[in-house]
Amino acid sequence: MSEPLVLGFETSCDETGVGVVRGQTLLADALATSMAEHERFGGVVPEIASRAHLEAMVPTVHRALAEAGVRASDVDAVAVTAGPGLTGALLVGLAAAKAYALALDKPLYGVNHLAAHVAVDELQHGRLAEPSLALLVSGGHSSLLLVPDLAREVTSLGRTIDDAAGEAFDKVARVLGMPFPGGPPIDRAARDGDASAIDFPRGLTGPRDAPYDFSFSGLKTAVARWVEARRRAGEPVPVADVAASFQEAVADVLTAKAVRACRDSGVDHLVLGGGVAANSRLRALAEERCAAAGIVLRVPSPRLCTDNGAMVAALGSRLVAAGVAPSAPDLGADSSLP
Ligand code: KG4
Ligand code: ZN
Repeated sequence: MSEPLVLGFETSCDETGVGVVRGQTLLADALATSMAEHERFGGVVPEIASRAHLEAMVPTVHRALAEAGVRASDVDAVAVTAGPGLTGALLVGLAAAKAYALALDKPLYGVNHLAAHVAVDELQHGRLAEPSLALLVSGGHSSLLLVPDLAREVTSLGRTIDDAAGEAFDKVARVLGMPFPGGPPIDRAARDGDASAIDFPRGLTGPRDAPYDFSFSGLKTAVARWVEARRRAGEPVPVADVAASFQEAVADVLTAKAVRACRDSGVDHLVLGGGVAANSRLRALAEERCAAAGIVLRVPSPRLCTDNGAMVAALGSRLVAAGVAPSAPDLGADSSLP
């Protein structure tokens, strides 16, 4: 018997993602995004995101099936992000996934968005070592996870106590007059800057601070104050240096804490995920520090680091293979799913 064909739905934020995998082989990853509609608000507007998911859903499913070269009737299981995320947005994905599962008479698996960010790496680099540690950094989350068993047990070691890392990139970009989302333009600008030009604060790195939690709000404010002071004094703002120094502070804290968590837990595999994992400095510093600490680093390609349907299908496929019981038909959205 061939491996199960799994259809995955992701709608926790602004991306409508529908992925198709067979076993852990990626067959299709169709994506629609409402990012452009949120740009003038400087952040994702939940109501706009939900409406956009509704409009994009059916065409995106059709594209995914066509790209995979399969028919809906070939699907063996349906997986969907149940949380965490924006409730209204999650509900659109859940409604679609339930409709397909019901119509096809196939099992439905509700999955955790963060665990799906970890699972996606298996599509590129094969079976994950267990236990592994995962550092997930995006516009909505910044978490350190311990993954003893991807299908059954994923625990949180730490998370941000204020802004997510991606949010800090977006807000700092705004201060510097760059477009939303701010990660890519800051990454680009930082290439021409000096990362040691300005010593921005590293949040929660004191001896008494929670070792695996993050805080980026103080850093964001420090950057805004620094830039404002320059402007008030009528001096030019060295955009590249600010971008590089800010990016260095984020990458430094994230990689230092991830490596420390690996050491403390005796885990020698680290996976990166989330939109911020596309950051070139974060990737380079993670490689450097992991190599020095004897940790095997796994980073999915940038396309798979950001939200997509393939990651949900990948985790769904893992659950099927592990014999985990499907979700009940009344599966609901849980915006704050742990
Ligand atoms: O995972 P994602 O696509 O969506 C969620 O937020 O769940 O992540 C988007 C975030 C945004 O905040 C964006 O600014 C950030 O990822 N991002 C980056 C880069 N590319 C995207 N941050 C830093 N450097 C990048 N190259
Ligand atoms: Zn995400």
